[in-house]
Amino acid sequence: MDFETPLFEGSRFLRALGPDRAGQLIDRCDIFFSEHRDHDDLARLFAAFRASEHHTVATLREWMRDTTEPEVLSAYCDVAAEESRHAVLWTDRMRALVGDSEVARRYADPCGMPALSEHFRLWDSYATSCSLPTRLAYLSIVDAWSGIAYNSYLLWADSSTRETLEEILADEVAHVGLAESMIDRLVPDDDDRETMAIDEACIAGLLYEVTNGFLSSGI
Ligand SMILES: [Fe+2]
Ligand SMILES: [Fe+2]
Repeated sequence: MDFETPLFEGSRFLRALGPDRAGQLIDRCDIFFSEHRDHDDLARLFAAFRASEHHTVATLREWMRDTTEPEVLSAYCDVAAEESRHAVLWTDRMRALVGDSEVARRYADPCGMPALSEHFRLWDSYATSCSLPTRLAYLSIVDAWSGIAYNSYLLWADSSTRETLEEILADEVAHVGLAESMIDRLVPDDDDRETMAIDEACIAGLLYEVTNGFLSSGI
């Protein structure tokens, strides 16, 4: 995949964020990821990535419980399987950096945790919604957000991490494309579209604020 051309340009996330905040978000990510990090720092960063991947898996698993439409269920299953694999890939990188026992000792396995951090709880009202438009809005926005962060990190990552990142990023691009194409086909109602636009603006705004907090938290 060509990662040189701007990713997610024209995405629902960047449209909801608006050009000023989108530019600021990307600039802040670049500054954050350009910092020098030793192995311990990197393991801590990857633990945060892993927690984020796990949170998406937990969210999708919840959605699967009340979803009967085959196309939608199959999409949730496929994306959840790939997010699970991303969590494993980050765990592998953490182990390579600090060793198996240190990973187990320092970083609790986030799998199955009900609420992973205060950050996630801010937008969990959207993640736990029963509405298909809201769920698809959430998926398209959150995956584009994580993809933008990963894409920024590509510039600064060492070669082993770069391989992992490229693999994950290709999936995130596909997830955003899948969510956006499902919105196009499965949310035809104008009222639903209007509600979805409000949800997207709220989720994008929360992510923007939370990212600013995360990037200045010393992780
Ligand atoms: Fe992922
Ligand atoms: Fe994803």
